[in-house]
Formats: sequence, structure tokens, C-alpha cells
Amino acid sequence: MTEAVAKGESTLLCEARDKFVAAFGCEPTAASAAPGRVNLIGEHVDYCEGFVLPVALPFLTIVVGAYNNTDECRILSILANGQEVEASFPASSVAALTPGEPAWANYVKGVVANFPSKVRGFDAVVVSDVPMGSGVSSSASLEVAFFTFLEALTGNRVDPVEKAQLCQKAEHEFPGMPCGIMDQFIVTLAKKDHALLIDCRSLVSTQIPVESEDAVILVVNSNVKHQLTGSEYPQRRAQCQEAAKKLKIPSLRSADVEDLEELKLQNCDALVQKRAKHVVEEIARTEEVAQLLPQKEFDVVGQLFYKSHESLSKLMEVSCPELDQLVDIMRSSPGVYGARMTGGGFGGCVIALMKKEYVNVVKENVISQYKGHPIFFVCRPSDGARILQLA
Ligand code: GLA
Repeated sequence: MTEAVAKGESTLLCEARDKFVAAFGCEPTAASAAPGRVNLIGEHVDYCEGFVLPVALPFLTIVVGAYNNTDECRILSILANGQEVEASFPASSVAALTPGEPAWANYVKGVVANFPSKVRGFDAVVVSDVPMGSGVSSSASLEVAFFTFLEALTGNRVDPVEKAQLCQKAEHEFPGMPCGIMDQFIVTLAKKDHALLIDCRSLVSTQIPVESEDAVILVVNSNVKHQLTGSEYPQRRAQCQEAAKKLKIPSLRSADVEDLEELKLQNCDALVQKRAKHVVEEIARTEEVAQLLPQKEFDVVGQLFYKSHESLSKLMEVSCPELDQLVDIMRSSPGVYGARMTGGGFGGCVIALMKKEYVNVVKENVISQYKGHPIFFVCRPSDGARILQLA
């Protein structure tokens, strides 16, 4: 299989509901959906309060469930390969929740623990077609889908920005991944046919129309799995904080080219200087792309994509040979304006901004040259999280 096809909301909802009825013997009363995402540009800058420009994907995580009149939360999750995994933990109405085993359930537990009101025991089924470990935010999709399910179940609706922040907090506290705000924010606030320019300092966001007949975003999954909870991501974050501390500023968002000179003068660690340079330049690139994309300045945007990748590979050092190879293949393919890795890195996906009519040619190029097993999809910017009606 070289093509990833989204199953769609109604198919996934039916699957989830059937599973729920079979597993728990009654109908679910609440349901929700939340998408995965790719980031167009603004990589490894959200935790420095920079600008990011992600879009939501048509791949979804769906949660259905109902109160079970016990003090237990019981979750059944159906993985993409059909395997079923289960977890249970005490309801937050009777106990303070703590992280534990199985590891996957921490994403759910963290959300229950951070939901603004105590939740009674419930049963739930999760189904998802968001590719896991591919840098398209299957974890934020699960968190936000679950939070939205709790909103439907309890009737307690939460402001979307606050919701994104609570899901980010859940990810920090339970799986222990010190992520930025980008993933939870886009998964919550995305709008069809738009990218979202998020100011990660003020948390003000602007919808940027990206619909075009001429250009598409082709996503290529390298099929190399990353593990972001490893030490690399927290290290990058710490190095950026160190740079900001040396410059006596709250975050690298406030830094400019002169500050980079200042770091040099201070004889600051060479790696810290490289990370800071990436962040300062990537934030500027992101603002530029947000302006140029609606004007259909695809050639310039494409060059900024290549520069972003180069910087992520050489300065931030979060790429890998497979992602670099995919970008090189794109560079020598016809009809491609630009390409870059997307997401946390160390595997996952590459995106290419390209002319629609060349998609098949480019895919063939990748299949014949890439040393791994690529999976493709054309990115259709989709809606963010929502409560679903169970008819
Ligand atoms: C992961 C994190 C995000 C962001 C990206 C890199 O996806 O969850 O917060 O930092 O990496 O841009």
C-alpha cells in the first residue's frame, strides 16, 4: 500500500459505535472527533513562542461512550491494524489520577485529570485512522478527541484555546512529553481549506485560506518511526531556553539577528547558537509564508520550505537520512516548488508544495528512488475537533 486514504467521519463513527455496543452492551450517548495535522512551516519554534502554520488532516480519532454508573473509566481502543487494547482507571470523581501503565492510556488519563470538572465512571471506545508515530500528531488527536468527548458527556463546554492548553498540560504531566502548543491548538481550532497562523506567544490565531486549483501539498510518510519522548526533543527545548536566558529575554521569539551576534560574543555553546539561529530565522520564514501563500507566490514559498528543511537538518539537527533523501528527491522532481520535513522530526513525514498535475510523476520518482517504503496522501486542510451527534 502506498496511498493513505482517510476513512471519513461516518465510517469511523459507525465502527466505533458497533464496537461499543458489542463490548459494553448498550448504546453510546456521547461522541466526538478530532483530526491529525501537518505543519506547513514554523518547526521547532512553538516552544519558543514563535509563529507556526499548521493544517488539520482528514484523518480522525473518534471517541464514543456513556456513563457506566461505576467509579471506573474503561477504555477500549482499536488500533489501525485492528488490534484491540484496553485500559481502566478510577474515575476522577473518586480518585486523584497519576500516570502509569499501559503507557498509551496516559494520553487519555491526563485529559480526564485535567478536565475542568470531575468526571464519573464511563465506558468509551476509541477508533482512529490517524497514522501513529508518523509526526502527524496522533497523540494530540487522541487528547483533543477525548477532551471533546468529555465535553459532550458532561455538558461542560470549554473555550477552545483553554482546551488546547489543558490538553498540552495533560501531555506534559502524563506521557511526560514537553511539547509546545501547536498540535493541540490546530487540532482544536482548524478550519477546512485553511491553514492556521498561530502566534504561540499571545495565542491569537488567524485563518489563512490555502485552497488552490494550481498547487497541492503532497505528504510523503517516510515510514521511519520517531520517538519524541526520547531525550532529543526536551534537549532542543532546553537549548533554546538557555539561549533566551543568556540574552535575558523571556523566549527566543523576542530575539533578532543582533542577538545571534551577541550569543557569539558571549562565547555561548556552539550548539545553542545553532538552535537559536534556526528559531530566529524560522519564525521570520513562517510570517513570510503566511503572507505569500494566499497570494499564490508558490515559487518563493517553495524556496522557504527548502530553507526550513536545511535549517532543521543542519542547525536544529532533527532530521534523519530518510527525510533528507525524500527532500532531495523532491528537489530533482518536476513540478515541485519546495519541500521540507514536518513535525518533530527523526522520521515521520515530508511535505512538498507542488503543481497538481505532477503528483503522479513525483510519486513514481519517490517510489523508484527512496530507499524506504513511502506512503502518500494529498493534504486536504480539514476541520478541527467537534462533538458528533448520535442519531
Ligand atoms: C512536536 C510537538 C510540537 C512542535 C513540533 C515541532 O510535534 O508536539 O509542539 O514542537 O514537534 O515543530
